[in-house]
Amino acid sequence: MHNHDYPGKLVVIEGTDGVGRSTQVEMLQNWLQVEGFGVSTTAWKSSQLISKVIEKAKEKNALNTITFSLLYATDLADRLHSTIIPALKAGHIVLADRYVYTAFARDVVRGADSTWVRKIYDFAIKPDRVFYLKIPLDPLLRRIITTRGGLDFYESGRDIGISTDLYQSFKLYQSQIMFEFERMAEANRFITLNAEDPVEAIQKVLRRELGTLLMDETLSGSVVRS
Ligand SMILES: Nc1ncnc2c1ncn2[C@@H]1O[C@H](COP(=O)(O)OP(=O)(O)O)[C@@H](O)[C@H]1O
Ligand SMILES: [Mg+2]
Repeated sequence: MHNHDYPGKLVVIEGTDGVGRSTQVEMLQNWLQVEGFGVSTTAWKSSQLISKVIEKAKEKNALNTITFSLLYATDLADRLHSTIIPALKAGHIVLADRYVYTAFARDVVRGADSTWVRKIYDFAIKPDRVFYLKIPLDPLLRRIITTRGGLDFYESGRDIGISTDLYQSFKLYQSQIMFEFERMAEANRFITLNAEDPVEAIQKVLRRELGTLLMDETLSGSVVRS
């Protein structure tokens, strides 16, 4: 990954499934717009080019470790080219709901070599800030079961045969993902937030941290503010 010198800022929210990323991104987007910033958002597996291919392949359970990694990398490569970089060039704040770190954590747990995965994503841009929403396994399970009514096959790592019991599989798979996230959070100086806090409390910290980042940039005339 390389540093960028576009006028905009790339802000990443990371964390496992159901941790509250979308909730926080939406609130941040509204706030930044009200504050007069140009804002773009981008979500994992949302590229025009490839997201439907990934969906279809998952339905058929047709992905192996390598093709899983490569398709998701292609998804991000497409979004960088079509959305993220143009927005950064225009001076926008780009809010990314998951980024390369999701792949680094997930692909390794799915059996990919850690150095290989990082090399694959060499094309990506280094974010200006990474926030990591951290939650212990049990509250995450409770939240997912109450709000979604069940566990997702892939988010439970069922396809890679960790356990035939969906619940056990979720616990084992997600705890390994969390372990990888936490290692990266330390090594890459992510800002770790307690995802068990109330939504508003998390949002407050996010706004405070972004406020500091954007204050400097607004003064230097980099990001666009109407
Ligand atoms: N801090 C929080 N405390 C309790 N529930 C939350 C919190 N943040 C989000 N939720 C709820 O958890 C569910 C998953 O949130 P969502 O933002 O969709 O997660 P993600 O995008 O990370 O998968 C939603 O029903 C949401 O309302
Ligand atoms: Mg979401």
